[in-house]
Amino acid sequence: MCGIVGYIGPKDTLPILIEGLKRLEYRGYDSAGIALSSNGKILVRKKAGKVADLVADLKESNELPQAHLGMGHTRWATHGEPNDINAHPHVDCKGEIAVIHNGIIENYLAIKTRLKQRGHIFKSETDTEILAHLIEEIYKTKKDLFGAVRLALREVRGTYGLVVLSSREPDKFIAARMGSPLILGLGEGESFVAADAAAIIAHTRQVVYLNDGEVAEVTAHGFETKTIYDVSIDKAIEEITFDLSQIERGGYEHFMMKEIHEQPETIRNAMRGRLLVEEGNVRLGGLEHVRDKLLDARRFIIIGCGTSWHAGLVGEYMLEHIAKVPTEVEYASEFRYRSPVITNNDVVFLISQSGETADTLAALREAKAKGATVLGIVNVVGSSIPRETQGGVYVHAGPEIGVASTKAFTSQLTTLALITLMIAREKGMKKEEAVVLTRELDAIPGKVSQIFKNVEPIRALAREFRDSKNFLFLGRGANFPVALEGALKLKEISYIHAEGYPAAEMKHGPIALIDEKMPVVFVVPKDSIYEKVISNIQEVRARKGRIIAIANEDDHEINSMADYVIRVPRTYGFFGPILNVIPLQLLAYYMAVERGCNVDQPRNLAKSVTVE
Ligand code: F6R
Repeated sequence: MCGIVGYIGPKDTLPILIEGLKRLEYRGYDSAGIALSSNGKILVRKKAGKVADLVADLKESNELPQAHLGMGHTRWATHGEPNDINAHPHVDCKGEIAVIHNGIIENYLAIKTRLKQRGHIFKSETDTEILAHLIEEIYKTKKDLFGAVRLALREVRGTYGLVVLSSREPDKFIAARMGSPLILGLGEGESFVAADAAAIIAHTRQVVYLNDGEVAEVTAHGFETKTIYDVSIDKAIEEITFDLSQIERGGYEHFMMKEIHEQPETIRNAMRGRLLVEEGNVRLGGLEHVRDKLLDARRFIIIGCGTSWHAGLVGEYMLEHIAKVPTEVEYASEFRYRSPVITNNDVVFLISQSGETADTLAALREAKAKGATVLGIVNVVGSSIPRETQGGVYVHAGPEIGVASTKAFTSQLTTLALITLMIAREKGMKKEEAVVLTRELDAIPGKVSQIFKNVEPIRALAREFRDSKNFLFLGRGANFPVALEGALKLKEISYIHAEGYPAAEMKHGPIALIDEKMPVVFVVPKDSIYEKVISNIQEVRARKGRIIAIANEDDHEINSMADYVIRVPRTYGFFGPILNVIPLQLLAYYMAVERGCNVDQPRNLAKSVTVE
């Protein structure tokens, strides 16, 4: 979702801003803009479309001076259509104060009405613009930008990651956070601000994570932090551990393909130092201090959105079957508003790649307020969810840039498998039994690599079905969420209508859709419910649907029943989803490429969904 980058220091600012904005493109956006502070003026340029359109525009006008303070923004429209005027930065009446903002100001209409009555002129339809005018209004009497921003923010309700410049105070910028992530970057005689580390990691690894309600005054030589209610805060400087190569494409045409191929390594990373193969055990440092809570829990609730929710559904099958813990899975957005009955015997796991998803963060707070033990299963280190949970496990997939989540999903599944095994052992699973499972898990990365050795049949499928209007994905048991995930991947990057269903549910409605044009993907590994899925395949065959089977390498029966067979290695049933989803990721990818879709930046989607 919207991106923010800002700089103050001796270097020429514009190239730093443009480079930073390009690195944030993956988050999803529809317009871009910059503001530079130079010679007592603030110069703003903004444009609907891509960062490249903004750059072309800047080149054409060729009039921007060198500046040593500035900020850039990519906007994902919420209030007002994506056009040049609604793009950020927004300025006050005199063009002396400029703001860029991620998030939503909920009470903007009331503030706008009041400011209009006081003579302020608004140019855009955005909620953000009120911030520039509100700060301007306060600045009339309080001639201190840091103080004026804090006072202004006491009046607004909603979420923000915010950066403010004033032409009257050209030696600083102000950054503030409420619900939308913001980090400061500290270099030698230069400072940065960004919505995520990708924008600034080429320049510095020393960062400070702002918390909700904190406002920072940042100069080239340091920063001071206060709450919006003027309490001074000492902030720790932290070090970013990933490097630039991890957020670049590394020879692949798209981030999504790069990330799909990273999975043998990312799955291995999720297990590294945690899976004790020959001891048949698992060590998870982030859960040790809540061991008793986990063992005494009345039930587990797993909460997430989208792909992370699908991972939670697989987790439910694992936890109930292997660890025998009653488990429920909830959409974060639903959990929050249905007054859930939660007690302090509940353990709630929040699953999130970004660690910033607004609905998941809100669900976390709801569960915590009701007394549950809240734990994170998160990818982005230092993001909001792990900072508010009482413990948890990082999935260690590394930066995921492609908007369609791939490697984070398989790392989430691997982490859920580790948690399941750890609890199962604590609850009495025998070592011999556990070693069979730890060995299976240990072998998964190698089996993922095997799938990549023969992707041609998947590419051929994409060519064959590129013009299909609909797709159905079916699976049972732990592979039902895999069917959901296959459908989600396909629809989000190739814009083909796709539905995922439990295979047996098909006859309760979707079967009406089956005809000779309907491709139906069955996830049908040789597990305990194989025969049941075969019956469902027969139901589709009888209606002339075109059957694509994701089946095990040693399954010969399937050849006579499916029109197309994609092979995956066999593993223990509940770990199967980690392998079975890979061909579906590849199918979605090749379909999108065949159809000429923008794989890494699908329309309307954002990588990090920081609005409700
Ligand atoms: C789909 C996808 C989304 C995310 C969802 C939650 O490919 O990426 O469905 O899974 O927006 O995001 P996180 O995991 O960051 O909380």
